[in-house]
Amino acid sequence: MSDNIYYEKSIGLWMSDKKSQKLNWKELIKACNSHGYNLVKLDLEQAFEDQGKIDVFLHKLTDVIAAADQGDAKAAKIIRRVEQYLSNHPNITVIDPLDNVRILLNRYYYYSILQDESSFKSHGIFTPAFAEFPTSNIKDNIEIMRERGVRFPVICKPTIAHGSKSAHEMILIFNERGLSVAKPPCVVQSFVNHNAILHKVFVVGNRYHICERPSLKNFYASEDLDPIFYSTGEVCKADSQSTLSILDPNDETGIKMHLNEEKVKDVIRVIRKKIGLILAGFDVVIDNTTGNHAVIDINVFPSYDNFPNFFEHLLDCIEDTIRKSNSDCSLEENGRIEDYGGNHRPNGLINIGDSHNYEVMGMNII
Ligand SMILES: Nc1ncnc2c1ncn2[C@@H]1O[C@H](COP(=O)(O)OP(=O)(O)O)[C@@H](O)[C@H]1O
Ligand SMILES: [Mg+2]
Repeated sequence: MSDNIYYEKSIGLWMSDKKSQKLNWKELIKACNSHGYNLVKLDLEQAFEDQGKIDVFLHKLTDVIAAADQGDAKAAKIIRRVEQYLSNHPNITVIDPLDNVRILLNRYYYYSILQDESSFKSHGIFTPAFAEFPTSNIKDNIEIMRERGVRFPVICKPTIAHGSKSAHEMILIFNERGLSVAKPPCVVQSFVNHNAILHKVFVVGNRYHICERPSLKNFYASEDLDPIFYSTGEVCKADSQSTLSILDPNDETGIKMHLNEEKVKDVIRVIRKKIGLILAGFDVVIDNTTGNHAVIDINVFPSYDNFPNFFEHLLDCIEDTIRKSNSDCSLEENGRIEDYGGNHRPNGLINIGDSHNYEVMGMNII
């Protein structure tokens, strides 16, 4: 996909047609070429071997992996083929390794990883209490919640975090009676009052960018309230106008809780170390009584719409990763090591700044 110029190295990219249509290919190709790479748009239906030699495999296969893991035969065949290809070509740099991506497909699994992180508590970071409902038996589910310290109100979320629109259909439940609407397999998580502000952190290797988004207003347990159904997109998009985001007059204190960037960096380090992703994002809400920071969601290869000069940072990180793996052949399998992503300095995380200062934006979606 380059104008007759020969580039020695190639990046093979796969993402869904929907994502691909939104991508500014011209900008991406320009960034690849300026770093000496050709860009190959891969077709999952054809053998990768027939699509040219690639040095880097960059992908957003989350939905296909999720479908394969849930028994979709076509998706399973595709993933098997990709994994076989990668194991036949171990020198290809994969962003990100499929096993690391899999960790984030299951909310219960990655919440457990966050909960087990012993450093978080003393740094004022936490994952709200959560539990999984394997069945619809309300009596059992009340007991599961009690054992795990999950308190009303709760948000009920599908356990599988990717693969369909329904993965983002949430239910706010205020009492035991409301549990009848929970559809397993799902997780319930204690609701954290955060004055309707969501902080989204976008990570590319050792660089990150933070955006604020609207979120849910404060809620309290109540015997009278019926469950509230919402989809994440309706409430948390930059321009969303949901009434669920409008604070009640009593909660309008005018005091703004500030995000503590040191805490954000702590979370990034843990995600890099324990999950080993170059391309990740996570959501933080600040508990309005304690100021503690709750990590409520982690995503693979999020939409970097507002990430300033995303393509340039992506290419820099790809090169860092290749340099790192060349210089350190004793890399742990799947890259789950302290400084994965090319960052050799212990505190070398870089906030790439305020998007308002940049003209070229994020994924350059057109
Ligand atoms: N424990 C929680 N406390 C308060 N608000 C939450 C909590 N969990 C989720 N939310 C709200 O619901 C939204 C969607 O939840 P999230 O887990 O991020 O799912 P998704 O995968 O759809 O992004 C969040 O952006 C936030 O507004
Ligand atoms: Mg989210």
